[in-house]
Amino acid sequence: MQRSIFLFLVLAFISFACTQKKSADNGTISLNSPNGEIVLDFKLCDIKSPIYSVKFQDKEIISSSNLGFEFKNQPDLLEGFKVIDTVENSFKETWEPLWGQESSIKNEFNELIVKLEEEKAPNRKINIHFKAFNDGIAFRYEVPEQENLKDFIIIDEKTTFNFTEDHTAWWIPSDYDTYEFIHNESPISQIPEATKNSQHGHSRQDHWKGANTPITMQSPDKDYCIAIHEANLQNYAGMTLIPVKDSPYSDFSFEADLVPWDNGDKVRASAPLKSPWRTILITKTPEELLKSRMILNLNEPNKITDTSFIKPLKYIGIWWSMHLGIATWGQNGRHDANTENTKKHIEFAKKHNFNGVLVEGWNQGWEQWYQDDNFDYVTPYDDFDLAAVSKFAEAKDVELIGHCETGGQFEGFEKRLEEAFSLYENNGINAVKTGYAGTPFGEGKKPYFHHGQRMVEHYNKVLKAAAEHKITLDVHEPIKPTGLARTYPNLMSHEGVRGMEWNSWSDGNPPFHTCSLPFTRGLAGPIDYTPGIFDLDFSENPLPTRKLWNKIGGLDNPGGMHSTLARQLALYVVLYSPLQMASDLLEHYENHPAFEFIEKVPVDWSETEIVDAEIGDYLVTARKAKDSENWYLGAITNEEARTITIKLDFLDTDKTYQAKIFQDTADAHYENNQEAYEIISKELSANDELELKLAAGGGTAIIFESP
Ligand code: NOJ
Ligand code: CA
Repeated sequence: MQRSIFLFLVLAFISFACTQKKSADNGTISLNSPNGEIVLDFKLCDIKSPIYSVKFQDKEIISSSNLGFEFKNQPDLLEGFKVIDTVENSFKETWEPLWGQESSIKNEFNELIVKLEEEKAPNRKINIHFKAFNDGIAFRYEVPEQENLKDFIIIDEKTTFNFTEDHTAWWIPSDYDTYEFIHNESPISQIPEATKNSQHGHSRQDHWKGANTPITMQSPDKDYCIAIHEANLQNYAGMTLIPVKDSPYSDFSFEADLVPWDNGDKVRASAPLKSPWRTILITKTPEELLKSRMILNLNEPNKITDTSFIKPLKYIGIWWSMHLGIATWGQNGRHDANTENTKKHIEFAKKHNFNGVLVEGWNQGWEQWYQDDNFDYVTPYDDFDLAAVSKFAEAKDVELIGHCETGGQFEGFEKRLEEAFSLYENNGINAVKTGYAGTPFGEGKKPYFHHGQRMVEHYNKVLKAAAEHKITLDVHEPIKPTGLARTYPNLMSHEGVRGMEWNSWSDGNPPFHTCSLPFTRGLAGPIDYTPGIFDLDFSENPLPTRKLWNKIGGLDNPGGMHSTLARQLALYVVLYSPLQMASDLLEHYENHPAFEFIEKVPVDWSETEIVDAEIGDYLVTARKAKDSENWYLGAITNEEARTITIKLDFLDTDKTYQAKIFQDTADAHYENNQEAYEIISKELSANDELELKLAAGGGTAIIFESP
């Protein structure tokens, strides 16, 4: 008896989740991608709840899945609808991004807007806007202005993704504060409802539910790939996915789970509201996933009129010495952010073809990091002369990159935003790195999650303020990118990744990590990973900073790089960002033959070809420079050594190139022979094939110089 009551309750709880099969009404509306390979079906089921399903090349890949909301203090918006109107359109354009992986982007889709109204009072209205591209499906909720729905609180978004197969997934847990994880690779059926928090001592959740996005999957037969994410995240909470175990409708069911406010509210909203787009990338191959620009295309065109200040930057910085523990950000140790050292960096940048120098720790407050509003965004330490340093940089035509670490004290930062950005603007500084390493507190110590609605608003507010002050941003501890850089191209890069810094104070990033990142986090937008460490064994360095991190993060590890040197070079090509750092100490670059690759590699591209790839295993990427006819190639492998034979047919057919190949030696290894590399020169053309020999955890980087 108890079991049947339990079953009844379970079914009652999910009763809105009816399926197409049960449908009384057969009014399916279909939307095809422009090439006809992807088909989305929409309908109202028997309880008049909106549901969608998706086919790819005639195979159902998402079975009937629900749409709708649960509200606080008013009836949910889930069922009892009628379709009052539908709008269909086709759209095609080609646009030119200011910076990017290619110089022009095709945006082509068919769209369907389904306008729904409750059959009974209060007759509230909601539209669901679908778009079908050749590389995926997207949809968003639009709550139009109306009499009977004005202010409302979403306590649950019921968007469901009922997958039809037990795909292999690459995923990180849904920590609401950080994306700095190594991806798990597992069948989607094994993504747990809750993962115990063991990786981040400072995370505020005991358990993480499900997974963060982007979450990437490949079908068991490897006949297609899917990646779920979101686009144009504004005035809303970040989305994570939780597995719905024991769903009667699919063995592989996932539901949206929005990051909450402190009282459990998810989104506090007023009509009209447009939710972010829920995006389902669908491609045959992993290579095609990396070619998709659907996320960018779902954002509005550039809104910044004077874009002269927006420049891709290849930069060095006063940075790694602090992570290594040789120096400190504040004056409680060797203070590297001083005038003389900054000038030295500017001179080095000028000499070696870098156009940016990042300075961290120039402003006061670092001694009390992780305490309330400790950071002073405008007052330098006494050994740093901002005006002199900025003039020096200007004279050398090098951009100084400012830094606003907030420690998560976002309200304090908001109060001083104008002051901080004006100071930078007045000193001719057009690029700023922001950081949120700490818990966001506001309104009298109320804690917020980094990925909740309040912080999403904060990140977007800073972005818009930066645009007004002609400042480009590199956001660390960010909200994940969702393509807003199309609208605000001053949003250059993001961390939101377990980047290079983790190698200095954790057990480090395994080679698998950078082989999975382009297919996961990389689908969302540029990654400021900060590659280019040449001194790969730094176990002898002192550890004061790492001790600080240990205290904060519960980490207790001497750090360590798991990479060959040639792989460090290849990362400049395989990990895309219009900002790329050469992160090592300057003395490790001076007179190093392999440094030639970093000096030459561009950060802006006219073409990108994904030559060969297996998610998490290896990746070969080729890109053509925007400012020359040269091509660059990066290849990386996971823990396994491998030989990959590639065709060079991406090269321009009418040329013979001088190729300079930076590769692992035969005995190189990511753990015990890291710095063993060789440089080989060859003449190569589009008709040639090339054997890439990658050591375990290794890589190859090639410059193809056009005559
Ligand atoms: C964490 C950032 O990821 C890192 O780049 C920065 O150096 C520190 N926070 C200090 O702001
Ligand atoms: Ca970080």
